[in-house]
Amino acid sequence: MRRAIVFGATGGIGQAICTELAQSGWSLYLHCHTKWQEACQLSQKLMQQYPEQDFIPIRLSFLAENSDLSKFVQDLLPLNAAVFAQGITDYHFVNGQEMNQVDDMIKVNLTTPIKLAGLLEPLLTKNDFSRIVFLGSVYGKQASALEAVYSATKAGLTAFSQGYAREVASANLTVNVVAPGAVDTAMNAMISAEDMSKVKEEIPAGRLARGSDVSYWVNVLLDKRSSYLTGQTIYVSGGWLI
Ligand SMILES: NC(=O)c1ccc[n+]([C@@H]2O[C@H](COP(=O)([O-])OP(=O)(O)OC[C@H]3O[C@@H](n4cnc5c(N)ncnc54)[C@H](OP(=O)(O)O)[C@@H]3O)[C@@H](O)[C@H]2O)c1
Repeated sequence: MRRAIVFGATGGIGQAICTELAQSGWSLYLHCHTKWQEACQLSQKLMQQYPEQDFIPIRLSFLAENSDLSKFVQDLLPLNAAVFAQGITDYHFVNGQEMNQVDDMIKVNLTTPIKLAGLLEPLLTKNDFSRIVFLGSVYGKQASALEAVYSATKAGLTAFSQGYAREVASANLTVNVVAPGAVDTAMNAMISAEDMSKVKEEIPAGRLARGSDVSYWVNVLLDKRSSYLTGQTIYVSGGWLI
């Protein structure tokens, strides 16, 4: 049985990833932070659709202490893949940014994923093949005003993946980043309809991404045949900002 853990399974993109991976035969841990009910409901729905597979909701704050991260990993069943689809942003000029919010963004988007990757590595490399996929962003390549800190965390994931991929390639563990443009999820709910329609006008494909536009590439990267692609960042942006 192939099992993946999807961090941020309750998010707009995470839900699409869980749905697509379940359809491809994966058993899943569905991670959440605050939305426990949603994680349970999605697990139950997938269990009904795919009764031969396991779907286990699981909770962890990415702001947790190091000891809690170690304990979280110790309790997990064997895994073939980890997908990091959690994330937070904040729209502020740097000179008006709350310092705690800067710390939280770096921790949730970059530092805790790095620590968890290292902690999960022994579980992953026990298998004949394994995969890590981080959700990056086009802003990791072309950073955005008002999201400078967020952009830095996403650029950090791209650099980390390149280096880490080289460390673990001989163990058949690939490490890649799927970097979306603008996706129609709750993360963008604070952007006004007017500003969002301006963004849409800039996107050559003429629309925001759907969760399934992103989950498709995650599913491909997790496939056993994707063993020779590692250390890459794939931009899924409808031609925007590349
Ligand atoms: N939406 C976009 O336009 C876009 C574009 C480029 C890249 N991305 C990236 O794609 C990923 C998913 O984005 P999304 O649009 O699906 O976001 P979303 O709908 O806002 O979901 C965010 C997810 O992160 C989890 N999360 C938030 N704070 C957390 C914490 N402290 N500890 C652990 N988990 C936490 C949430 O858990 P709960 O719901 O359980 O609290 C939720 O599952 C993110 O990395 C994001 O940066 C998104």
